[in-house]
Amino acid sequence: MQKLIQWIDARLPIVDAYNKHLAQYYAPKNFNIWYFFGSLAMLVLVNQLVTGIWLTMSYNPTAEGAFASVEYIMRDVKWGWLLRYMHSTGASAFFIVVYLHMFRGLMYGSYQKPRELIWIFGMLIYLVLMAEAFMGYLLPWGQMSYWGAQVIVNLFGAIPGIGDDLSLWIRGDYLISGITLNRFFALHVIALPIVLLGLVVLHILALHEVGSNNPDGIEIKKNKDENGIPKDGIPFHPYYTVHDIVGVAVFLFIFCVVVFFFPEMGGLFLEKPNFEPANQLKTPAHIAPVWYFTPFYAMLRSVTVDLFGLPAKFWGVVVMGAAIAILFVLPWLDRSPVRSMRYKGWMSKVALAIFAISFIVLGYLGIKPPSALRTGMAQVLTTLYFLYFILMPFYTRMEKTKPVPERVTG
Ligand code: HEM
Repeated sequence: MQKLIQWIDARLPIVDAYNKHLAQYYAPKNFNIWYFFGSLAMLVLVNQLVTGIWLTMSYNPTAEGAFASVEYIMRDVKWGWLLRYMHSTGASAFFIVVYLHMFRGLMYGSYQKPRELIWIFGMLIYLVLMAEAFMGYLLPWGQMSYWGAQVIVNLFGAIPGIGDDLSLWIRGDYLISGITLNRFFALHVIALPIVLLGLVVLHILALHEVGSNNPDGIEIKKNKDENGIPKDGIPFHPYYTVHDIVGVAVFLFIFCVVVFFFPEMGGLFLEKPNFEPANQLKTPAHIAPVWYFTPFYAMLRSVTVDLFGLPAKFWGVVVMGAAIAILFVLPWLDRSPVRSMRYKGWMSKVALAIFAISFIVLGYLGIKPPSALRTGMAQVLTTLYFLYFILMPFYTRMEKTKPVPERVTG
C-alpha cells in the first residue's frame, strides 16, 4: 500500500493535497452547528447527482412520455419511488441547507475581507442552483411544471425591446412545448450540474486559501505558535471529519422521515396540481412556484404600478433581479470594524432579524394567492428587505461595537 501511494505521489501530488486540504488544514476550534451546513450541502449535492443519474435511466424527456415515465418510475421501476422521493426531497433540502448556510455567513460576517470571493462563488452557486431547480421542475410535465415554466419564461417577455424574442429563444417554441422540455432536460442533467460542481470546487479552493471564519469572526492565522500553526486551529481531519458525521446523522434522520412519511410535505415539496399531466388548455386556478422561490415571487407580485411607460411586470422583474444582485455586493456594504454579530451593535442585530423575518414572511405570501392586504404586506416587506442592504453602510459604521477578544471564545 505504502509503495502504491509513493508510486502515485511521484506522479500526482495526492499526499500534498491530503495535507493541504485535510490533515494540515487548520480550522478554528470553535465551530458551532451553523458550520455543519457546508458539508451537508455537499452531501445533498452528491445525493442529487446519484439519484438524478438513476432517474435519468428510466425517464423519458418528451412531452408525450414524460409524465407517464415518472409514474412508471414511481410504480414499476424497482426502488424507483425511493429514487424519485430522494431527488424531490433533496431539492428542497438543498435550499433549506443553503439558506441556513447563507444565514450563517450573514451572522458571522463570513463574506467580509478576505472572504469576498468565497461569497461571490457562493452566490453564483445559488444562481445556478435556482436555474437547476427551475428546469428540473418542468421535467415531470405536470400542470404546475407546465404553467410555472410558462409564467417564469413569460417574465423575460417584459424586458423592453428584446423581451418577446428572448422568451421565444428560451422556449424554442411559441409556447412551452416538448422542445422546451428537451432542452431543459439537457441543461438540467448535464450543463448545469457541471457548472455547479466547478463552482463548488472554486468555492472550497477560495475557502482553503484564506481559511475559515468562525463564530467570533477572529482571524486565527494572526495568532500562531512557534511551529507556525494557529493556536486556535485544529486539523480538519480527523477532528472536523468526525464532527461533521454527527451533523450528517441528524440530517439523514430528518431527511429519511420526510422521504418515507411526508414526501409531498403537504404540497410544499411536491405541489398538488403536479399530479395531473400538463394541459395547455387548462390553466390552474392558482400558480405558485415551489417554496424556495416564493420570497422572490412575492416581491415580483408586490410591484403593481406602471412607471416611465413600462409595465408593472417589468418593474417586478427588476425588483426580483435586484433582490438577488444586491447580495453579490454585500461584502462591500458592510463597513463594520468587526465581523461577527456577537460583537456588532444592536442596529446590525435588529436589521438582520428584520431581514430574516421579512424573507420568511415574503416566502409565505408568495405561496398564497394575492389579495389587497397580502400585496400591501409584500410591498412593506420588500422595502424592508432592500433597506437591510441599502442602510448597511450607515448602521454598520454608526453603531458602537463590542471589543473583540484576542483568542476565540468557544
Ligand atoms: C452547493 C452549495 C454549496 C456548497 C456545497 C458549499 C460548501 C461549503 C463548505 C463545505 C464550506 C466550509 C464549511 C462551512 O463553513 O460550512 C463553505 C463555506 C462557506 N460558504 Fe458555502 N457552499 C455552498 C453554497 C454557498 C452559498 C450559496 C453561499 C453564499 C452566497 C456560500 C457562502 C459560504 C461562505 C461565506 C463560507 C465561509 C464561511 C466561514 O468561513 O465562516 N456557500 N461552503
